[in-house]
Amino acid sequence: MFQFDDKTTFSSENPFELYRSWKKEADVNEVNDPDAIALATVDTNGLPNVRIVLLRIIEDDGFVFFTNYNSIKGNEIHSSGKVAFVSHWKSIRRQIRVRGLISKDETKLSDDYFNQRPLESRIGAWASKQSSVLTTKNLLLERINQLRDDLGENPPKPNFWGGFRIRPLEMEFWNDGQFRVHDRFLWKRQYLDADWTINRLSP
Ligand SMILES: Cc1cc2nc3c(=O)[nH]c(=O)nc-3n(C[C@H](O)[C@H](O)[C@H](O)COP(=O)(O)O)c2cc1C
Repeated sequence: MFQFDDKTTFSSENPFELYRSWKKEADVNEVNDPDAIALATVDTNGLPNVRIVLLRIIEDDGFVFFTNYNSIKGNEIHSSGKVAFVSHWKSIRRQIRVRGLISKDETKLSDDYFNQRPLESRIGAWASKQSSVLTTKNLLLERINQLRDDLGENPPKPNFWGGFRIRPLEMEFWNDGQFRVHDRFLWKRQYLDADWTINRLSP
């Protein structure tokens, strides 16, 4: 049993429960956008890359976001199978860092998520060859108009679009303290399904 000296802020030994409880506070306080995470990948030369995506689903042992599988991030994820991300909630002065393994969602979750999006967003997912060169914006707008006619009111999810599931090996919770005496706790496990070890880190 790990002993936290601040049981209000660090309310659970389960890092997913703790993530949810901090997120709940961020949902109330962070105007735009508590779902945003900075997602880091690495290319085949080892050069890091980072961009914002929206973390849409927090599961009991995973985090899911949605994107175009053929995008730059999609290719980098495909080649390395590893990512890191950080959630930073300025309004509550907290960050959570996550490192782990990532794979495509193969369940019906991606279809369910896609189907509840506004029609314009669904058409947009079909129309955008995300991260490829686009010579003019008009080309994209023409594609959107064409697809709106072709696909009708209930376009299915394209195969090149869907969820990625991140399964963490490390999660670090950082809470701002006075005079930079911050609290940091690191959950770490050697492999998925192994038990977590928890350690306090120096700020
Ligand atoms: C607030 C915000 C939310 C975003 N959410 C997503 C998202 O959920 N999925 C996505 O594919 N791109 C999202 N983007 C766009 C990405 O940052 C990025 O431009 C795009 O995914 C292409 O990245 P890539 O070239 O590294 O693949 C978001 C951007 C911002 C600023």
